[in-house]
Amino acid sequence: MAVAVILLSVVFPFLLWKLISRPRSPSPLKSVAGPEKEHWFKGNYHRIFQDGLKYNLQLVRKYGGVIKIHALLGKEQLYVSDPLALHYIVVKEQHIYTETDMFIAGNKLIFGEGLISTLGEQHRKQRKMLNPVFSLANMRELLPVIQPIAFKMRSVLLSQLPTDGDSQEVDVLPWMSRGTLEYISQAGLGYTFNALEPTRSHSFTEAIKSLAPAALKLLLLRPFVPLAVRNLSVYWRNKLVDWSPVQPLRDLRRIVEIMDKSSRKIFFEKKAELENPTTETIDNEAIKSEGNLGDRMKGKDIMTILLKANASSDSTERLTEAELLGQMNTVIFAGFETSTIAISRLLYILASERTVQARIRNELRRAKLDYAASRDIPLDGSWNDIELPYDVLMSLPYLDAVVRETLRVYPPTSLLSRTARETTTLPLQYPILSATTGEKVNSVVVPEGTTVIISILAANHNKTVWGEDASEWRPERWLSDSGERVRLNQDREQLDGTFGDGAEGSAGATPGNRGGVKYPGVYASMMTFLGGGRACIGFKFAEMEIKQIITTLISCMHFSLPSLRDENGNKKEIYWKMNGLQVPVVQPPFGDGKTAQVPLDIRVVHEEDFS
Ligand code: HEM
Ligand SMILES: *[C@@H]1O[C@H](CO)[C@@H](O)[C@H](O)[C@H]1NC(C)=O
Ligand SMILES: *[C@@H]1O[C@H](CO)[C@@H](O)[C@H](O)[C@H]1NC(C)=O
Ligand SMILES: *[C@@H]1O[C@H](CO)[C@@H](O)[C@H](O)[C@H]1NC(C)=O
Repeated sequence: MAVAVILLSVVFPFLLWKLISRPRSPSPLKSVAGPEKEHWFKGNYHRIFQDGLKYNLQLVRKYGGVIKIHALLGKEQLYVSDPLALHYIVVKEQHIYTETDMFIAGNKLIFGEGLISTLGEQHRKQRKMLNPVFSLANMRELLPVIQPIAFKMRSVLLSQLPTDGDSQEVDVLPWMSRGTLEYISQAGLGYTFNALEPTRSHSFTEAIKSLAPAALKLLLLRPFVPLAVRNLSVYWRNKLVDWSPVQPLRDLRRIVEIMDKSSRKIFFEKKAELENPTTETIDNEAIKSEGNLGDRMKGKDIMTILLKANASSDSTERLTEAELLGQMNTVIFAGFETSTIAISRLLYILASERTVQARIRNELRRAKLDYAASRDIPLDGSWNDIELPYDVLMSLPYLDAVVRETLRVYPPTSLLSRTARETTTLPLQYPILSATTGEKVNSVVVPEGTTVIISILAANHNKTVWGEDASEWRPERWLSDSGERVRLNQDREQLDGTFGDGAEGSAGATPGNRGGVKYPGVYASMMTFLGGGRACIGFKFAEMEIKQIITTLISCMHFSLPSLRDENGNKKEIYWKMNGLQVPVVQPPFGDGKTAQVPLDIRVVHEEDFS
C-alpha cells in the first residue's frame, strides 16, 4: 500500500512532469544571478515560501531587482522586485505575463468562472461590470449598513472580559476571522451565516475556512490540473479522485461541492427576490438566524448590484449565470483571509505600541465629538455611539497612516506568480550584474513559458524608493510635516481600472517615490494590492472594513501583549511566519510554533488610555 501511495503521489507525477516539461538546454536565464539550487526537488521554494521573510529580503539585498531562482524540480524562474520590471509585468505587458495555466485551471475547478479564473477578454468584461460595484459611492452607502457587524464583534469580545475591569487574555484571531467572514458575506451576498454566533457553525463557512489549507496540501499536484481538465471528462476526473490515495483531494472536492451548493441556493433566492420583491425574507430575524438579509441590506450588497447591472447592460456585456455564480465564491475567498490577517496584524501592532493605540483612540474621539457638534447631534450617550460617515472615517490622518504603513511593511499576500506567454524583454530600472560576464545588464530576455514571481514584499521594502528606513514600521511617512494626510490617487475614482498608470502626485510628493520612480501599485508606490488590470478590486472595501473594525474595538477596549507566564516564567512570543500568506504563531517554549493564534490581553479602556 505504502509503495502504491508513493508511486501514485510522487513518482508518477514526477515522470509525467518530466515528460511534459522537457528541460531547455542550455539555460536561457544563465546570465541572471541568483542563489544555488538548495534541494533537488524543492529548489529554493522551501526557503522562499516557508517562513521566508528574512530570506526574501536577504535575496534582494544580495542580487537586486531581478533574480534567478529554482522552483520545484529545479525549474528556473525569475524573482522580480525592480520597479520598471514590475511596471512591465503588471501594466504595460500584462497581456504577456498572465496567471499560469495551473492557477487558472485550478481556480476554475474551485471557484467557477469568477474573476480569478479568467483571462483576457472574458476577464476584462467581468472587471468592467464589477469595478463600479466597488466604487466610492457604493462604499459610502455600505459603511453604515455593515457597522452592526463591528458592534457585534465588540460585544463578543467585551463579554469575555471579567466584570471587575481586569484584563483577560483572548485569542483574537478566530474572532477577526469570523468577523471578516461576516463582513464579506453580508456585503458580498446580502446574506448572514451568523459567523459571530459562537455556538453556530455553517457548512459554508467551514468549507471556506478549510479551503486554503486543503489547497496548500495539494500544491504539488497543481501542475497536473490543466492536463486533467483538458484531457479528461468530468466522469473520469471524478473517478480519478475516488481512486486516488490522496485524501486532501477528496476533501477539496467536498469543500467545492459545499461552496457550490450554498452559493447556488443564495443566488437563486436573490434572483427570485429581485424578480418578485414581495418574496418573504427573514428581515427582522436577520441578526439572529441564518439567511437573506433582505431589506436591511437595502439592495446594497455586491450580488444584488451585479444582478441589476447585468439586467440593465446590453447583451454583449452581460455575464452568464456561471460567471455571476463564480464571482460569489471568488469575492468571499479573496476578501476573507487577506483581511483577517491584516486586521489581526494591526491589533498585534497596536497591542505592542501603547502610544500609537492611544493616539488613534484620541483622534477618533476628537473626530466624533467634532462631527456631532458640526451636525448638532445631541450627545445623550457615549461619544462612542456616534457613527462617522465614510468620508470622515477614511480621512482620519493618523489612523490612515497606521493602516497604510501596516499594509506596506506586512503585505498579507507577499508573493504572486505569472507566466510569460511569449518571449519578451524585461527592462530594469537599475542594472543587475550578469552572472556570466559580471557586466551590468539593463534588461533580461524572458523566454516563453518562464514563470516570474512578483515580490510584493521586496517592492514594499525597497530602500531606494522608500528610504533607508524602508523596513521600519513608521506611520509618519504617510503624513505631511504638519500631520496632514498625503492625498493619493486612491481618493479618485478609478472605474476604468487604470491602476498604476503613474498619474499621481508630483515626483517626490508621495511616499515611495524617488525622483519620479515608483512602483505601479493602486496608490502611492504600494504593491500590497498589486496594480494594473488585475489589481485587488476590493481594496477600498478592505480599508474601510479594517478601519471600521479597529476603531470600533479600540474605542472601548485596550489591547496589550499577553502577560501570562508559564511555570518557567516564559511569556508568549507571537511570531508571524510567512508562507504565501502570513501565519501568526506562539513560539516555543510557551507555544507550539504551529497553531495559528494571536493571544492578546484585553481590558476596558480608562481615561489614561487616550494619551
Ligand atoms: C487587506 C486585504 C486585501 C489584500 C492585501 C488584497 C490583495 C490582493 C492582491 C495582491 C490581489 C492580486 C492577486 C493576483 O493577481 O494574484 C487581489 C486580487 C483580488 N482581490 Fe484583494 N486583497 C484584500 C482584500 C480584498 C477584499 C476585501 C476583497 C473583496 C471585497 C478582495 C477581492 C479581490 C478580488 C476579486 C481579486 C481578483 C481581481 C482580479 O483578478 O481581477 N480583496 N487582492
Ligand atoms: C491533451 O489534449 C490536448 C488538446 O486537447 C492535446 O493536444 C494533448 O496532446 C493531450 N495530451 C495528452 C497527454 O493526452
Ligand atoms: C442577465 O440579464 C439578462 C437580461 O435581463 C437575463 O436574461 C439573464 O438571465 C441575466 N443573467 C443572470 C445570470 O441572471
Ligand atoms: C529598488 O528600487 C530601485 C530604484 O528604482 C531599483 O532600481 C532597484 O532595482 C530596486 N531594488 C530591488 C531589490 O527591487
